[in-house]
Amino acid sequence: MRIISVVNQKGGCGKTTTAVNLSDCLALHHRKVLLIDLDPQSNATLASGIKDDEINKCMYDVLCNKVPLRSVPVEKYPNFFVAPSRVTLSAVEQFLAGQQGRETVLRDAIQQVKNDFDYIILDCPPSIGLLTFNALRASSEAIIPIEMSCFSIQGLGRLLGTIELMQERTNHTIAFRAVPTLFDRRTKYSWDFLDEIRRHFGDRMFSTKIHTNVRLKEAASAGKPISRFDTGSLGFFDYDQLAKEIIAEEPKIQSIKTVESPLKTERGIQFRCFAPNAQNVQLVGDFNNWSPNQIYLENKNGDGDWNKTLLLPKGRYQYRFIVDGSWVHDKNNQQAEYSPYGGLNSVLEV
Ligand SMILES: Nc1ncnc2c1ncn2[C@@H]1O[C@H](COP(=O)(O)OP(=O)(O)OP(=O)(O)O)[C@@H](O)[C@H]1O
Ligand SMILES: [Mg+2]
Repeated sequence: MRIISVVNQKGGCGKTTTAVNLSDCLALHHRKVLLIDLDPQSNATLASGIKDDEINKCMYDVLCNKVPLRSVPVEKYPNFFVAPSRVTLSAVEQFLAGQQGRETVLRDAIQQVKNDFDYIILDCPPSIGLLTFNALRASSEAIIPIEMSCFSIQGLGRLLGTIELMQERTNHTIAFRAVPTLFDRRTKYSWDFLDEIRRHFGDRMFSTKIHTNVRLKEAASAGKPISRFDTGSLGFFDYDQLAKEIIAEEPKIQSIKTVESPLKTERGIQFRCFAPNAQNVQLVGDFNNWSPNQIYLENKNGDGDWNKTLLLPKGRYQYRFIVDGSWVHDKNNQQAEYSPYGGLNSVLEV
């Protein structure tokens, strides 16, 4: 599952428009998506067409009253779920102030639904307060919409500084990228500004640009994602492109998916290695004198989740996987030691 914040403290740069339409376009591509509205203005809730009487619980209840996140989402369209907000969300910062763990309340709440969705998209408010901090702590990725206007660059440094500071302080890394919004291709200004943004962000930018398109505004007013409003519009084309760009990265993201390994089960110790493109994966260790061609992991479901369960007597072992001939340590096992022959050996205590 990918958790992506749509964030920028600048107001009106297209965060909500991006969060709603990207979520919906991902859902159209058969991804199961949860859009979480983290803005007390509730624009994402309204633009998705959620009516007040459809809301049972909202994000305030999750963050302040420990209501399980699973009980909140409204299924608006197939695969497209919305966890709505109400104006009460503005009280969250005050409620959580001074509480221990206040920056990770959302991350903890998301744990419960992390196997239910392919994507969670977080629409952030236009400020860097506790709500935005919670979003960033919960996310592995962030999209920064940047309006193609001269004021939009101001304050960006602060946002990027906040992300860097959080990464240093918490050891939690976020892959962030900018997406140009409200782009007017008829003006030289937009193109010049795009060059400036590219200089600033380098390869941390999407190829897709979101053009100014009045149909996006009209769709939001009608409480509909653009795909339910006008599929012939440039707005739909752009957000569909953005969704495709994000989907194209899935194999790369999945290859760094972590699994619990080694796992102690009733049948023995289960070794697991996630290697979707591998032809074969072996296990070697001091339990078999580091001899290759003896223990092969199995990829029964063909999904790249290789595993093997072994019965091992009590003891302390070092081991490695051999993935298509390369000796690698177990990335999911924190315990590892330097080998006198170079590289790391994973360590297991039974
Ligand atoms: N590409 C676009 N073309 C035309 N109008 C747009 C586009 N993107 C956003 N808008 C309009 O601009 C306004 C602000 O957009 P949006 O609400 O998405 O920004 P925001 O960053 O979420 O704002 P806030 O900071 O207040 O949450 C809205 O009226 C929206 O419909
Ligand atoms: Mg918004």
